[in-house]
Amino acid sequence: MMIDTHCHILKEDYDNIEEVIKKMKENIIIVSSASPKDIDEIIDLIEKYDNIYGTIGIHPEFANTYTKTDLTKLESNLNHPKIVGIGEIGLDYHYGNDNKEAQKELFIKQIDLANKYHKTIVIHSRDAKEDTYNIIKTYKNNDTKCNMHCYGYDLEMAKKLTNQNITLGIGGILTFKNEKKLKKIVQELDLKNFVLETDSPYLTPEPFRGHINEPYNIKYVAEKIAEIKNIKYEEVLKQTTKNAIKQFDLKYLDI
Ligand code: NI
Repeated sequence: MMIDTHCHILKEDYDNIEEVIKKMKENIIIVSSASPKDIDEIIDLIEKYDNIYGTIGIHPEFANTYTKTDLTKLESNLNHPKIVGIGEIGLDYHYGNDNKEAQKELFIKQIDLANKYHKTIVIHSRDAKEDTYNIIKTYKNNDTKCNMHCYGYDLEMAKKLTNQNITLGIGGILTFKNEKKLKKIVQELDLKNFVLETDSPYLTPEPFRGHINEPYNIKYVAEKIAEIKNIKYEEVLKQTTKNAIKQFDLKYLDI
């Protein structure tokens, strides 16, 4: 079994969504929201398909535009048994630094919700390494689980995070020819620190780069991890599945 711990398979990007899900029928998909407008569609998906779970959250790109109603709606859905996390939430300074404070405030509000409802935090962080780390360290309860999705920082930060039982989401970027940093991290750190993700429809792995991504493609990420760590593909699937079950409290899944 494989678990895609992070993707966005929503109607706006797929006209063959049933087919995309069917290919994963032996596996598990965790669909992540970025925008408050995705919440209803995610609830529909997790109620329709046994093998789909969801995380809901407000992405930092909405730090200036989200409303109180959005936060209320988010909170009111957190008791759903198949909502297994809050995310993606975090900080993104890639396009400028003018609303850092608003981003931090939204991030912290949602970490508080994760603490309150015992949900796993799924972090999006770009060009905001230190601020992200400091906020998690300050505001996350020790027993609140946390995953850094699409990990893109250095080995040193990877060690700091994994030492606190934060898992790193590894996706298509690992398969890119010129990617060296992430390969080094995968090589150095124990497999128990990683979960697989596609971030579909984005970041399609080799050999399908250029096409729209889909959850089934995590097999290529797993193959790459096996190659880098010089272990069996089956071992990668087994351990990363175990990690994901633990990370998102998918308790009844006994493998
Ligand atoms: Ni994403």
